This record gives sequence, structure tokens and C-alpha cells, in this order.
Amino acid sequence: MQIHNFYAGPAILPKTVIEESAQAVRDFANMGLSLLEISHRTKQFEAVMDEASALVHELLNLGDDYAVLFLSGGASSQFFMIPMNLLKDGEKVCYVNTGTWATGAIKEARLFGNVEVLASSEDNRFRHIPKNYVIPDDAAYLHITSNNTIYGSQYQQFPKSPIPLVCDMSSDIFSKNIDYSQFDLIYAGAQKNMGPAGVTLVVIKKSLLGRSGRKLPTMLDYRTHFEKGSMNNTPPVFPIYVSMLTLRWIKTMGGLSRIEERNRNKSELLYKEIDRNSCFEGTVDREDRSWMNVVFVPTKVEFEKPFLEACKSAGCVGLEGHRSVGGFRASLYNALDIESVKVLVDVMSEFEKNNG
Ligand SMILES: Cc1ncc(COP(=O)(O)O)c(C=O)c1O
Repeated sequence: MQIHNFYAGPAILPKTVIEESAQAVRDFANMGLSLLEISHRTKQFEAVMDEASALVHELLNLGDDYAVLFLSGGASSQFFMIPMNLLKDGEKVCYVNTGTWATGAIKEARLFGNVEVLASSEDNRFRHIPKNYVIPDDAAYLHITSNNTIYGSQYQQFPKSPIPLVCDMSSDIFSKNIDYSQFDLIYAGAQKNMGPAGVTLVVIKKSLLGRSGRKLPTMLDYRTHFEKGSMNNTPPVFPIYVSMLTLRWIKTMGGLSRIEERNRNKSELLYKEIDRNSCFEGTVDREDRSWMNVVFVPTKVEFEKPFLEACKSAGCVGLEGHRSVGGFRASLYNALDIESVKVLVDVMSEFEKNNG
């Protein structure tokens, strides 16, 4: 039976990427050695780093004024590295709170300065993306989370910011063809739309490097990683290689415009069924619904278990909602084909026939 992978992360990767990665584990670049046992200083691996970085620039359509870094520590480590590197002593900084991850970022920023939470959807159980707030022009930066993996909301338009715009794109980077140059710093854990867990992408305007003026530990200073091409220490070789293959795959698929079209079609199909089907309902305001993490609940609590069982029988896995929210969550990352969404929609309509 074919398995349809709806996990929120670590998550589905293109089949060809898995196959090529497996081959590289056996024999990398015809070296007669596994990718897992070679030096990161070999010319073969340096070529991987260079290609990964060039593909990030190309796919996001960013110029040489941006540095691309491959770091460890997950997106969560960026919650503190960003204020450490960008925030000057005594300066204030602005955040928008749209869910669990934004809350985590705010908590860490408070260790370094005065955080102003400009807007929050917490009172509405994070069911919408706040809009129409005023962004002061005397703060160091504005931090937003483009896609809220747990609650299933997503910015469909970004705020026009008079101060540097910093964005956690962990769960929707490379999913749409947007103007990435509106951001001054973008970061993302790889394990949703880019690769396996273990590497975090940071794309930063070079003019922001060293902005805070603080004395920082070597490994926590973006300048170190920029100056050393993300090789100051041993980088996460395997996750970087798999991420590079995924970026190649995106390019081969036709780039972000084509990926965006795929993602739009998948999410429209699923939301249409949620809105039609009497056994389910969406939780997020329609205009803010995520294309990546579709969160929905049963109209009767007793539907929850049997629906998950029906999904499992059809090969659909990873649909349990996050433990803090419950219900269901279907993650529709880039590598998921629309055929998998069709299978899920069939399970939903069959479920309604039997239970509705
Ligand atoms: C939007 C967002 N930010 C941050 C994180 C934390 O990422 P990591 O586990 O790489 O620290 C996640 C994880 O799911 C996420 O979805």
C-alpha cells in the first residue's frame, strides 16, 4: 500500500532526493566512500556547499547583498541568535505573536532587550493573522512567523516595514514565489520543505552582520559563519547535502512559480472538502489559512478516533493535530503530490457517508 505522508516535520521529501541521498551514503561522487565518512574539506563537499548556497540565492531571487548560512541548533537557536546579533544595548525590538513558535521567539528576545509585542492573535486562539498595526520606526527590527505550523495560519501578505523585517519561514520557505527581498533576515529549520533535521538556513542582509556591536561567542556570531562559508567547524554534512538535492529538485520542477501552483491546488482541494463536509470544520479565518499546514477539527469529538483509523487504513499518516491543539493537521509540503490529497479527500467524503 502506498503511504501518504502528512507529517508536520520532519516531513516528506521528494522520492528522487531520498534515492540520491541513499546512493551518496553508499558512494559519494564516485569517491568510493560514503558521504558519511569523508572530510567536509574535500573539494567534492565544498562543491555541495557552493551549489546549495547558489541555489538558495537563485530560487529566492536574492542578490549578493545577502549571505546564506547553514547552521546547527535548529530554528529555535535563531530565536536567541537574532537578538544577540542584531539588537544594540538599550534598543527596543518588535514582534508579532501568531502562535507557539512566535511566543518562543519573543521569550528569547526578552533576554536581550525591550520587546514590544505589536499585535497578537492569542486571545483568538491564534485563529488569525493580526493586521493593521503601526510599526514604530525606532526599533531594531520586526520579527514575524510567516506560517504557523501548529495553528495552521499563514501570512498571505506581509507588513510593509520601515525597519528590518525578520521572518521565521521554517514551515513555508520555498513554497511560494514571493518577493523575498522584502525581508532582511529569513531563517528556517530544514526539516519541512528543504531537507532532513539537523541544519538551519539563515539568509541575512550582509549590512546587518555585526549590527549589535556585542562581544559574542565565536559560534554564535553570524560573521564567523559568513566569513568561513558555514565551515568554521564541521557542518552538518548529510543534511546540507540532502537540502542541496531538494533545492535542485525545486529548480527541476520549474522553480517556485510551479511549486506555488502545486501548493495552491493541493490546499484548495483540501479546504474545499473541509468546507463542504459536515463532519469537519476549519479552525482558521479563511483569508489567513495556511497552504502548508491545514488544521481542522471534527464536528463531533467522537469522530476523531475513527477518522484517524480510516486515514491509516488508506495509507494516510501523520494527520493527528499538534498535542497542544488536537483535531487534525494535514501538512502539504512541496514534495507531497496532489494524488495524496485526493486520497485524503476521498477518505473524508467516505467518512461523511458513513457517519454524517
Ligand atoms: C515555524 C517554526 N519555527 C520554529 C520551529 C522550531 O524549529 P526547530 O525544531 O528546528 O528548532 C518550528 C518547528 O516545527 C516551526 O514550525
